[in-house]
Amino acid sequence: MSPYHMTRTLPEDATGAALRDDVRHGLTRTPKSLPPKWFYDARGSELFEQITTLDEYYPTRAEREILLARAPGIAAATGARTLVELGSGSSEKTRYLLDALPLLRSYVPVDVSESALTGAARALLAERPDLHVHALIADFTEEFALPRTPGPRLVAFLGGTIGNLLPDERADFLASVRSLLEPGDALLLGTDLVKDEAVLVRAYDDASGVTAAFNKNVLAVVDRELGADFDQSDFDHVACWNAGQRWIEMRLRARRALTVKIPELDLVVTFEAGEEMRTEVSAKFTQDVVRGELADAGMELAHWWTDDAGRFALSLATVV
Ligand code: AVJ
Repeated sequence: MSPYHMTRTLPEDATGAALRDDVRHGLTRTPKSLPPKWFYDARGSELFEQITTLDEYYPTRAEREILLARAPGIAAATGARTLVELGSGSSEKTRYLLDALPLLRSYVPVDVSESALTGAARALLAERPDLHVHALIADFTEEFALPRTPGPRLVAFLGGTIGNLLPDERADFLASVRSLLEPGDALLLGTDLVKDEAVLVRAYDDASGVTAAFNKNVLAVVDRELGADFDQSDFDHVACWNAGQRWIEMRLRARRALTVKIPELDLVVTFEAGEEMRTEVSAKFTQDVVRGELADAGMELAHWWTDDAGRFALSLATVV
């Protein structure tokens, strides 16, 4: 049997249809918004990789510090034979986990991007020919089933990406992760933590403008995919802290009154001068909030690990 399998749970055109729905809904309501998942075309993924190297953007380094320090603890606590990674992308973080899990036999990367999955799987198999890789093309915010691989399973959702979900989306997501787990399985969850507002805002509004370019790139995606005529220079990048919701919000602010045509949707959208469109929320957590949301989904916080500076946390949750 080949050690590499790919299962597609999304129809070929699912991405195009979802983008059309999201853009139509997001741009025809007040205030306007677009979901952050559309940042990540090839250019956006490259810009995100650049963000992770910025002085101001601490989450990636903080999470790496925790993973390196705690990988043996994670291995001991879980005894995982299968690692499921949600939104796997092509990250190096996976390596630390794979290298630290001595009993691991199967790796199940789950991503909406087939190219991200194929690239990551090929690189991995070259290093670890012993591993069964079962790539799953799926949208992890929707229901999906896992392949039958040996337990216990460790489901990892790293990077703080859970913070991009709105509170009710987060509750649905955690409940559906819970439904994938059997007794003995575990969830490893990365969350950025509440901290000084200036530090947070700088992480999303860096001096060299990489995050601004990342934010504006969503306009290039809509232009290319839906034939729209957004001009990036008509918008300013905005990052602000919403203290009530405890999340960073990224927005694009129209520099002048303008009209945008979106031929693929038969839609014309107008912006007033200064009008802001929300493009991302990135929620920040405390231990109590993480524990509470896990409990609401039927899981129990078993371990809480932070970096030395206390900026970011990895939680290990088990099934109640
Ligand atoms: C990859 C979703 C964790 O929310 O911090 C980085 C994305 N946005 N800079 C985050 C992001 C702006 C990032 N996540």
